Formats: sequence, C-alpha cells, structure tokens
Amino acid sequence: MSPSRRTALGAILSSALLLAVGAPAHAQDKQITLGFAQVGAESAWRTANTISVKSAAKDAGINLKFSDAQQKQENQIRAIRSYIAQKVDVIAFSPVVESGWEPVLNEAKAAKIPVILTDRNIDVQDKSLYVTMIGSDFLEEGRRAGHWLEDHYKNDPGPINIAELQGTVGSAPANDRHAGLMEVIKNDPKFKIIASQSGDFTLAGGKQVMEAFAKTYGKQINVVYAHNDDMALGAIQAMEEAGIQPGKDVSVVSFDATKGGFEAMIAGKINVDVECSPLLGPQLMAAVKDVVAGKQLPKRIVTNETVFPMSVAAQILPQRKY
Ligand code: AHR
Repeated sequence: MSPSRRTALGAILSSALLLAVGAPAHAQDKQITLGFAQVGAESAWRTANTISVKSAAKDAGINLKFSDAQQKQENQIRAIRSYIAQKVDVIAFSPVVESGWEPVLNEAKAAKIPVILTDRNIDVQDKSLYVTMIGSDFLEEGRRAGHWLEDHYKNDPGPINIAELQGTVGSAPANDRHAGLMEVIKNDPKFKIIASQSGDFTLAGGKQVMEAFAKTYGKQINVVYAHNDDMALGAIQAMEEAGIQPGKDVSVVSFDATKGGFEAMIAGKINVDVECSPLLGPQLMAAVKDVVAGKQLPKRIVTNETVFPMSVAAQILPQRKY
C-alpha cells in the first residue's frame, strides 16, 4: 500500500473509532424497561396473550416486569403504582374493567411515564392519560355475532330466545359484545335475550351460570351467546349434563376462536366463533419502542380479525396459533 493510501485509511479508521467511542449514549441505546399489568389467567385467550407478551419482550430485548392481577382492579392499580415507583420507561396494561382509572393514570402522567393500553379499553374523559390502545374492536365482534344470528335464523319466524353468558362485569369486552349484539337485533322483535348473567370469562363460571339457566329455562333457550370460548365450553358441559345437545338443540355463539373453540366446532357443539386475537405482544413491543423513541402513534390500533362458522373449523384448525 502506498504511504498516501495508508494515511487515508488510517484517517478513516480513527474517525470511525472516535465516533464509536465518543458518541453520546442515546436514550434508545439503553435497555427499555416495560411494566406490564396483566388481567389474570382466567382463560385460554389470556394464557396465549401472556405468552405472546413475554416472548415478544424477549425478542425485542425489552426488560419486562410482569404482574398478574387475578382479575381484580385493585391489584392492577397496585401493580401500576409499583411500576411508577420503580421508574419504568413505559407502563402497559390490559384493564380488568373500563372505569376508575383516572387517579392512577394521573400519577403515571405526573411521573412522565407513558401508558399503553392493550386488549381492553378504558372509559376516561382525558385521552391524554394514555398514548395508544392496541387491541380488538369488541363492539364490531358483537355486531358480527349478531349478523351471524340474523343470517342463521333468516327463515325462522321465531321467537329466538337468547341466553347470554357475559364476561367480567364492567369489562370492555363484556360491555361491547353485549352492545354490538343489541345494535343488530334491537329492531328485530323475534330475537329476545331471556337471561343474562356473568360467568367472569371462566369455564367454571360459564358452567355454573348455564346450569342455572338450564334449570330455569330448559328447552325455551334457542341460543347461548357466550362472551368467550371458556364460558362456552363450560356451558356445553352444563347443557350435556342437562340433556340438551349444544350446537343442535341450542345454537352456541362464542368469541376468541381458540383451539378449544375450534375443537368444539369440529365436534358440532359451537356453531360460530368470532375471532379475537390475543397475539398482541409484537405490536405492543413495537409501540413501546416507538414511544421511547419519541415517535407519534395512532390513538387506536385495531387488530385484524374474522368470523369462523363451524363449517370451516376442520380446515382452519391446523393453522391456529392459540
Ligand atoms: O379481553 C379479551 C377477553 O378476555 C377474551 O375474550 C377472554 O377470553 C379474556 O378473558
């Protein structure tokens, strides 16, 4: 190498070295700590959601502090307060219920910790209390179920009596899946909700409520409208024990489209499953990184979902991820 080329190469190398050593430590170089306050472990959906959040955090190199609120708002509030005290970079949570979040979210705001909502929405006037909400449109899910019922019973003069197994009282999916259905059927007098009670999104809750419904209403029930697969599976057990054939004597409408829901469709016991995806981890981690980098995010990021009637279940099941 000629002396002049050697000098030029040396200059390039030393300036590269200077850049690497002397560069200021940017905020985005530091590992991000995310405090995540999960609802609980009430359903197969929730288990899949927790796995998705944990594995996406690992893949993204984010330090995750995870807590399980066991479906209690006070536990979630306590977890959020502890994340504030620990000065995490971002807080994310899936709110158990819609109301009552202003005080703790104002505390996060005062501490300048951005909050991301995931899965479930909250009911607050001040939308600056959170950066974005990532998750399903539960109202649209309810409408989709309602349209399926309209179509399924289009040649039936009725009455079509619906027994509703609601999710957790005050939660966004319970409120919106009910409201979405009502929006579709309210002008059609042949559809009537004759019973409605919460099974808290659990299999045991769904079974217990359905046992009571079967005792009180027996063969009057035409449709079981279960706000998630776990409750639908519990209701199926209760119906079978009461001598009612789910999927035949009674149409079963469910939400989530978990593998358990698909297996029940293949067995002819759930008639339709409205999809609700728990695989929110990668989107959440991307949003966390964007927030830390100071990027603007849309206020609402809606998950892409569909509806699975039982006729497609066997073909679709092998592709299901949760
Ligand atoms: O918030 C999503 C809902 O919560 C799912 O439908 C249900 O299975 C879960 O427990």
